[in-house]
Amino acid sequence: MNIRQLFLGDEPNQEVCVRGWVRTFRANRFIALNDGSCLANMQCVVDFEQIPEDVLAEINTGAAVEITGNLVESQGKGQKFEIRARNVIILGTSNPDEYPIQPKKHSLEFLREKAHLRIRTNTFAAVMRVRATLSFAVHQYFTQNGFYQVHTPIITGSDAEGAGEMFRVTTKNPEQADDKPDFFGKETNLTVSGQLEAETYAMGLGKVYTFGPTFRAENSNTSRHLAEFWMIEPEVAFSDLNDNMDLAEDFIKSVLAYVLEHCKEDLSFLNQRFAQEEAKKPQIERSSMGLLERLQFVTQNEFKRVSYTEAVDILRNSKPNKKKKFKYSVDGWGIDLQSEHERYLVEKHFTCPVIIFDYPAEIKAFYMRMNDDGKTVRAMDVLFPGVGEIVGGSQREERLDKLVERMKAMDIHEKELWWYTDLRRFGTAEHAGFGLGFERLVLYATGMSNIRDVIPYPRTPLSAEF
Ligand code: 4AD
Ligand code: MG
Repeated sequence: MNIRQLFLGDEPNQEVCVRGWVRTFRANRFIALNDGSCLANMQCVVDFEQIPEDVLAEINTGAAVEITGNLVESQGKGQKFEIRARNVIILGTSNPDEYPIQPKKHSLEFLREKAHLRIRTNTFAAVMRVRATLSFAVHQYFTQNGFYQVHTPIITGSDAEGAGEMFRVTTKNPEQADDKPDFFGKETNLTVSGQLEAETYAMGLGKVYTFGPTFRAENSNTSRHLAEFWMIEPEVAFSDLNDNMDLAEDFIKSVLAYVLEHCKEDLSFLNQRFAQEEAKKPQIERSSMGLLERLQFVTQNEFKRVSYTEAVDILRNSKPNKKKKFKYSVDGWGIDLQSEHERYLVEKHFTCPVIIFDYPAEIKAFYMRMNDDGKTVRAMDVLFPGVGEIVGGSQREERLDKLVERMKAMDIHEKELWWYTDLRRFGTAEHAGFGLGFERLVLYATGMSNIRDVIPYPRTPLSAEF
């Protein structure tokens, strides 16, 4: 049995055997043992007279041990049970002078350099358990709502977003000039989105979703961007932008409610951590709510929906700060919203999640459905406090002539996407979908502030260790 199961159970006075890693060993007597199954350590009390000295000498922070003994009600505060250790076996030693994860608070930056061991800290273990639970909740939500998961390709021949931020996949050696064709006989890249392929499946299965890794070579070294991240992309046939916004809102609320219910211990720990971190910030940058409070708030309140045009009006008439204006001024209709604008709308103006819809066609991808005004497209972004854009989606252009027109205007080659335009030839229908950046959701749910700390091995410019 693991430590979590022992704590959940109600049966002291039985002989148990646990295996885990030593967090601390105090007074030659108290081992705090953690096996990763939950946040809490199991206190194991050893009778040092009964344990051989060479074994005692190896009970160091980081060592893997097996402990057998009696599970008893704990006298100590804050824990239900402890183990009276009868026998300790050292499974794997750990040199205390070399083990980098000492029983003290390490900076997140330091821990990023030790990404293979940081999972043995309370913070990372809590974040990764919440991440795993959220992932389960995603599959559960879609399955219960009649969606089928589709596994879209990771190697693709098309740039779904048309943004040219792709990692090339090739077997050609750049140092050698050879005229043999490349592996696939054409240029291929790592996918930036499974959307186009998901659309084809929605037009056969009705309701589908993808949940897979995506890759973007955008050189933005921010706390919100990764070069490799996981995206969830639902796509629904016979649905429009309003249905799409409803789905995004219901989906996010539902998975956050799931972790609130199922990750109580970890979230309560992260809630405390969040409060400590917020307290270090200047007053005006502090979040008005605690972590648990804001998760509850999001699950219980409606997201605010405004059109891009309304949003720009609000920004133009706003004074973000008496002394400071926006770094990027809001000159007029048609500008791309910067993250400072998004944050102002969400954190200062509406103080709740916001969905902005009907963006100027010029700043959005080719596949979005043109509105009758000929200027805006049926796009929507969901913006979250602290995180900014968490979802980007749209109703798709289902009219062949309009789609081809847009592709021409945006220099997207119809020849490469012949299969995508085919969908508009055979049984075309209204359809819509969105992409949610999984790490941004995990960031929000855990209250962490850097996206590098919510994925096991972050990939960012100049960094691909591990
Ligand atoms: O807004 P994006 O670019 O939309 C798409 O890729 C569409 N094809 C989705 C669709 O309609 N099916 O990306 C979607 C989301 C963003 O809102 C953001 O949460 C996340 O993906 N995202 C990133 N997350 C981490 N690092 C990056 N570099 C990201 N780029 C986008
Ligand atoms: Mg986007």
